[in-house]
Amino acid sequence: MRAVDIITKKRDKEQLTAEEIDFFVRGFTNGEIPDYQASAFAMAVLLNGMTNRETTDLTLSMAHSGQVLDLSKVVDIAVDKHSSGGVGDKTSIAVLPIVAACGLRAGKMSGRGLGFSGGTLDKLESIPGYRVDLTTDEFLEQLKEKGIVLTGQTLDLAPADGKMYALRDVTGTVPSMPLIASSIMCKKIAAGAQAIVLDVKVGLGAFMETLEEGRELAHLMVDIGRLAGRETVALLSDMNQPLGSAVGNSLEMIEAIETLHGRGPADFVEHCLHVAAHVLVLGRRAKDLKEGRALAEKSISDGSALEKLRLLVSAQGGDFSFVDDTSKFERAKFIEAVKAPRSGFVSQVNARTVGEASVALGAGRAKKGDPIDHAVGFLVFKKVGDSVRADEALCEIHASDGGKLKDAREAILSAYRYSDESVPPLPLFYE
Ligand code: URA
Repeated sequence: MRAVDIITKKRDKEQLTAEEIDFFVRGFTNGEIPDYQASAFAMAVLLNGMTNRETTDLTLSMAHSGQVLDLSKVVDIAVDKHSSGGVGDKTSIAVLPIVAACGLRAGKMSGRGLGFSGGTLDKLESIPGYRVDLTTDEFLEQLKEKGIVLTGQTLDLAPADGKMYALRDVTGTVPSMPLIASSIMCKKIAAGAQAIVLDVKVGLGAFMETLEEGRELAHLMVDIGRLAGRETVALLSDMNQPLGSAVGNSLEMIEAIETLHGRGPADFVEHCLHVAAHVLVLGRRAKDLKEGRALAEKSISDGSALEKLRLLVSAQGGDFSFVDDTSKFERAKFIEAVKAPRSGFVSQVNARTVGEASVALGAGRAKKGDPIDHAVGFLVFKKVGDSVRADEALCEIHASDGGKLKDAREAILSAYRYSDESVPPLPLFYE
């Protein structure tokens, strides 16, 4: 078998066999198939798609490209949550401590930013010292001892995805249903999840823009999960506008921390409570969503979730004083408000435009391995449905380079649309 023949077959819209997919994944993992062939393969898949059978084969090959963890000795039930990626989505950073405070041992491996969407690891690294490179043994030990871990994918877990994810980020091959489904599910399977809550984002700032596409991705991932013997639930949530207010690494960390202090923006708090309730039900800590939600709320009001975040940060070598004093986070040199050009009701805050503008400020990468600037991003004050007066602040730009303010301002102004009539707020969840 040759890699070039597999790429050609996919280019010509043919179906690949399980053996061909496995050959490609193995070859890419061990370095025999170079990045340029893997990039061409990813582009062929993006353009021509895969059947559900091919996607499942790709998922299983990637899951088995490294070690597959067995968490049954460490936790009674391993529940994982994963978002398909969005703008301002710092949910894991708040939800993990919440469910851990409710008695569920919570271990999660997260990713870096992908295209215009932010990544949990980049956000966590805005706390000095926080390690996202735990080994598998360290992951297991911390999960057992502290009951909470939030780290990067270890090199020995689904290494094929680790390599592919970094390539996709910089080759325009992110928004592909089979590549997203296999990337998410292979990690969940390899990391030993027995039950999985998938937060599938839908809208302008998601890789799946329409509800139909989101639903298809959700069904595909649920089917893959069940096929692999994992109890899997998918939620379809809105990503037309940024989630919460903060977009950018430090800013999002601060918002997640503020949420655990009981001072989070209403939409983000609601989103977290709903996701946490599902995790608690799958983890058998709550009999239904109502009870799960009540437990999650209590963990915020009694400070136990915040305590779990402190524990997490210190266990991973981070400076946990940042959790109590968010003014310690690095601040951008230039902070400028963007004012509304007119009065009315906000009818759109295009999440993709905001996400791309934050990458342009330096919050994301243009090519593999690029450094990122933790301090930059946006605070979005006005969301869909809000009334706004001319000259009122819509958003705040946080930039390190004053020369980038103009483009950022123009991007934000173009992200907003207005109506003279009142506009209903966007739903948080569709299904
Ligand atoms: N999250 C992932 O882990 N992979 C993707 O491809 C998209 C979102």
